[in-house]
Parts: sequence; C-alpha cells; structure tokens
Amino acid sequence: MTNVLIAFYSTYGHIHRMALAVAEGAEGVPATTVQLRRIAELEEARKALAGQDAYLRAQQAQAEIPVVTHDDLRWADGIAWGTPTRYGNMSAQMKQFIDTTGGLWLKGELEDKATGIFTSTGTIHGGQETTILTALVPLVHLGMVFVGTPYGQNPQILVTDGIGGSPYGPGTLAGTDGSRQPVEAELTTARNLGSRLARVAGCLKHLRSSHASAP
Ligand SMILES: Cc1cc2nc3c(=O)[nH]c(=O)nc-3n(C[C@H](O)[C@H](O)[C@H](O)COP(=O)(O)O)c2cc1C
Repeated sequence: MTNVLIAFYSTYGHIHRMALAVAEGAEGVPATTVQLRRIAELEEARKALAGQDAYLRAQQAQAEIPVVTHDDLRWADGIAWGTPTRYGNMSAQMKQFIDTTGGLWLKGELEDKATGIFTSTGTIHGGQETTILTALVPLVHLGMVFVGTPYGQNPQILVTDGIGGSPYGPGTLAGTDGSRQPVEAELTTARNLGSRLARVAGCLKHLRSSHASAP
C-alpha cells in the first residue's frame, strides 16, 4: 500500500474543503491508504478569532479530525500540505508544525517522499503561486520531492477566468469577505493533486525500498 497524508490548516474552512478533494483524488488510486489530519491551532490565533462565528463554525466542522503528529509524517509515503495564504506565505500554524521536525530532518526521515501543496487566498493575486513556492522551501530542506499540478493534466487551469490553481498546485479563492466557496475547477485540480501525489509516492516508495536493499 502507498500511504498518503493530507495535513492542513484552515481558519475558515476553504482549505478544509480542498483537503477533502485532495483526499478523494488520492483514494481513487488503487492500493492507496489516505489519512486526513489537521495542523494544530495556535493559542494566540484561537484567542484572537474566538469572537468570529465563521471561525467557530469552521473549527467545529474540523473538530473530529485528529491533529497531525510526527508519526503521521513517518507513516506517509506522500504528504499534501494545505494552508491559507498569510501575506503570500504559509500560515504560522503550518510553519510552527514544520519547525518541530528537526529530529526527522536530522535522520533524513522525510527524504525521497513525495510532497505537494495547496492553498487558498482572498484574492486572485494574493498569493496563489507564492504561497506554494515559499512553503516549498523547508520541504526541500527535508528532502521531499515536489509534485505540482501541470497544465497537461489540468486543462481547467488554462483559462483567464478568476479561479485558483496553478502548475505549482491547487488553489481556491475565498473572496475578500471569505464568502466564496471552492468551485468545481478548483476542486478538480485538488483531486488531481491527490491522485498524482499517490502515484508518484508509490513510485518513490519502490525506489526507496530498492535503494535500502541494495548492497
Ligand atoms: C493575517 C492574514 C493575512 C492574509 N494575507 C492574505 C494575502 O496576502 N493575500 C490574500 O489574497 N489573502 C490573504 N488573507 C486571506 C486568507 O488567505 C483567507 O482568509 C483564506 O484563504 C481562507 O482560507 P481558510 O478558509 O481555509 O482559512 C489573509 C488572511 C489573514 C488572516
């Protein structure tokens, strides 16, 4: 079996919805096991956002999803990371979690595993591409192999319409007031990341095991 982990942080639910679509895509690949995990909320954010109904509703909807752990990362052959943009970068919640992985880095435990990133922005030019590219930097340090969503497999992103997604990975637009929800083209790109990640993770798993058994 190929193990695919989807680790996401979502304040208002857009990335949660996209994570479900990535999971759906990965589950469609034979011999793949998928785990959905949320990245823990930061106490400062919880306090700051406690008065917002949209935040509380979105957190309630994710409450049953287990919080991601280092053992989940070890278990995975492929990891899809979901984060809303924060000024063109990943969220502090995702960075905080990645910054706890020093022990895994030291032992090279994530090396040669597949990885992909999906995002959500308020506006079309708010970080669809930069969030993915900047979030990739620590994943490269960890030795992971990047999987994007190329145009050939994602003709739905070859448009001039105001939708999220790029060759770097899936994206959705939340709107400046957060009221827009992921549309079908965005969910298609998310499903395609899930299936491509599962396929590439499976190939890399074979390579890792043949490398490990080589004399
Ligand atoms: C501190 C902060 C910074 C943000 N920076 C940007 C930004 O640079 N560009 C943008 O388009 N949206 C920005 N947003 C909007 C979020 O990306 C948006 O709320 C998010 O995509 C919704 O996803 P979620 O429902 O999964 O939380 C920002 C939001 C916050 C709270």
